Amino acid sequence: MKKWLDQAAQKDLEDPLSAYRKRFFEPDNSIYLDGNSLGRLPLTAQKAMEEAVTQQWGRGLIGSWNKHWLALGDSIAGNLSKITESPVANIKVGESTSVHLYQIIHGLVHSGLYPKQLGVDSLNFPTDQYILEGFDLPLHRVIYPTNRSADLQQLKEAIQQYPGIYCLSWVSYQSAYLYPVAELNRWALNNQSIIVWDLSHAIGAVETPLKDTGTLAAVGCAYKYLNGGPGAPSMMYLDESLMPQVKNPIQGWFGHADPFAFSDQYLPAAGIEQFSAGTPNVLSLSGAAPGIALTAEVGMKALRKKSLLLGQFLQSMIEDELAGLEFTIESPLDPTARGSHLTISHPEAWRITQCLLASTPAVVPDYRPPGWIRLGLTPLYTTFTELACAVEQLKNTVLHKSFERFSTERNGVS
Ligand SMILES: Cc1ncc(COP(=O)(O)O)c(C=O)c1O
Repeated sequence: MKKWLDQAAQKDLEDPLSAYRKRFFEPDNSIYLDGNSLGRLPLTAQKAMEEAVTQQWGRGLIGSWNKHWLALGDSIAGNLSKITESPVANIKVGESTSVHLYQIIHGLVHSGLYPKQLGVDSLNFPTDQYILEGFDLPLHRVIYPTNRSADLQQLKEAIQQYPGIYCLSWVSYQSAYLYPVAELNRWALNNQSIIVWDLSHAIGAVETPLKDTGTLAAVGCAYKYLNGGPGAPSMMYLDESLMPQVKNPIQGWFGHADPFAFSDQYLPAAGIEQFSAGTPNVLSLSGAAPGIALTAEVGMKALRKKSLLLGQFLQSMIEDELAGLEFTIESPLDPTARGSHLTISHPEAWRITQCLLASTPAVVPDYRPPGWIRLGLTPLYTTFTELACAVEQLKNTVLHKSFERFSTERNGVS
């Protein structure tokens, strides 16, 4: 491993983003490779939450609505617009990804713009499939032979044969497979269909230029690569061409054209604002804003560049050091065809993960059935040295069979 550790130290020295690591809360003695599930805590978020609780809530009380809170969602949307290179007027934050997805799908179904049938594929995250299943409509599932990548021919044929409203993940949560989004959007358009893209594993990890790719609708988490905090409000995106026909199924007062007129009649706000429902979740928004601002500040070009370097480095070490130890790389081998995590599998993946978590320093990846370990690379704070140490731990764990002292029984989140 020595050569890799030396190379890693050199790469860290040359990393133009290395200073950003100090902008995050430093947990004790751990190598955190789970930013693809829950991003680390930006120090500015810690401060913003203290401020929101003590100053704004504690001291400012109701006056803080006008002074701080009503504008919070718009300022976050402004940064998301930079990150996605897309109009701010098409972006809203507030609900969970699941709720935003429901709102968009419902709105599209009732818009009359597309055939009333739905589609998902087998790489998509379960919540997306569940939400679509909840509509009492024909649901076409495109099932690929493996979870590693989409079979584009199969997907395109499905869209052609069952045109309608599809939901796909920009980057797959399991293998990190990155879809050719622009090509599929064009295909959908030419086949009376629309794809609602789930950006959860993509935003902050890869470039997501929504306008340029012809994306018309999208949703996505802020608690992963955007470091917005546990349960951070997600984003939704709707192209302006769809706004007149796509309506919010939840006619709440915050989506009213004039909520504080307390009118008897519901009159939807113009544009994306109509997708608000109830009172915004101020504390979560306060915690999410700084991480999203940091990503916008650094910019996706620089972040993607570092993510690709991290991914290539990790892949080379795995191919070299873990050869013959029963590991398989399940992510696309071309780094430009995947997002910002690398997934490996092993017959003892669960116990290996437990062993990594218990090691010193703790290596924190996440386990996903059926035997996959995801290694998340967050370019804002992951270092090359951390990756070399993590591979060393993986190697030792399997070489010395130290995972055998852990139970095969699964529990908890990861
Ligand atoms: C791809 C994807 N979509 C949706 C979700 C769920 O988002 P939420 O809990 O905000 O509804 C997740 C959660 O991890 C996810 O990975």
